[in-house]
Amino acid sequence: MAVGIIERYAAYLPVTPATPRITLGEGSTPLVRSSRIGPAIGLDQLYFKYEGLNPSGSFKDRGMAVAAARAIEAGAQTLLCASTGNTSASASAYAARCGLRAVVVVPAGGVAAGKLAQALAYGAIIVTVKGSFDRALTLVRKLADEPGVALVNSVNPYRIEGQKTAAFEVVEQLGRAPARLFIPVGNAGNITAYWRGFCELASRSGASLPTLHGAQAQGAAPLVRGRPVLRPQTLASAIRIGNPASWSSAIAARDESGGTIEAVGDDEIMAAHRRLAREEGLLVEPASAAAVALLLKKANAGSLDGTEPIVCVLTGHGLKDPQALTRGLRVPRAIEPTLVALRRVLG
Ligand code: F0G
Repeated sequence: MAVGIIERYAAYLPVTPATPRITLGEGSTPLVRSSRIGPAIGLDQLYFKYEGLNPSGSFKDRGMAVAAARAIEAGAQTLLCASTGNTSASASAYAARCGLRAVVVVPAGGVAAGKLAQALAYGAIIVTVKGSFDRALTLVRKLADEPGVALVNSVNPYRIEGQKTAAFEVVEQLGRAPARLFIPVGNAGNITAYWRGFCELASRSGASLPTLHGAQAQGAAPLVRGRPVLRPQTLASAIRIGNPASWSSAIAARDESGGTIEAVGDDEIMAAHRRLAREEGLLVEPASAAAVALLLKKANAGSLDGTEPIVCVLTGHGLKDPQALTRGLRVPRAIEPTLVALRRVLG
């Protein structure tokens, strides 16, 4: 039976024996060794942490399990969030699981089809706002103190706590900390969470610390530019964020790890997205591919040591964004069910 992250990591999470062991079987995602991209770019030990295999299809489920459990303990009846899509899908799933109400506030036109379909199917109340994710988050933060409401964006400390378990798993699976970890950055909660996880392991068991490399999309790269972006733009809708809530902790993670936060173009993101599908059999959404795009850029520049273990976090499943998957591709026309017609198609 699947053991969720609260059960597995209770000793390292802000939970008590009284905290409900909410789970949809989140966590325990595979660390997949690269079969073709790594060898092609001279990296012997390239791994992908495939977080798209979480129950609602993204890493958010780790933090949501803990946030939902603590919300129930505090007597909440509603999980509230702003979202570019995955947080809303995750909050909706855990709310459904626990008999809570989910209210998700999303930017108009800013959410991939699969994520919106999830929130609808899980029975959430969906509010679409005219404006960016940043505006939506500002709005919901004003409701956070209403009685019975738990705000479950990553400004909720339990979200970060739950998400740090991914760093624990990476070290367990690799048998050591990676030398470098590549991760996409949007609202900057996840890079904050990984750094916390690695630091806790280092102080607990003397594990080494990785260098973190955060990837933002060129048109939505406030942390790279050093100032908020008013109208963030990128095909990677999950990280279309102009003013990340965890700004300072992301910069701290970057600096304390001796790492970087860099921008990659949408063309580079989509090229990495396609390579993951065609050369690794790994379906991800564009935001996840941003981390791999940055890895490819750095490998090209010769700035990576090919013998070191390197991990890329693949944050969300490809089926979340079918439009991105089929971009530039066409479903072939139906043929007559004859051998002649089949041979003609196959050349
Ligand atoms: N990758 C995916 C697939 C995401 O959905 C997100 C964030 C990120 C990366 C960036 O993570 O925000 O912790 O830096 N999605 C949020 C949402 C904002 O609403 O689903 P972050």
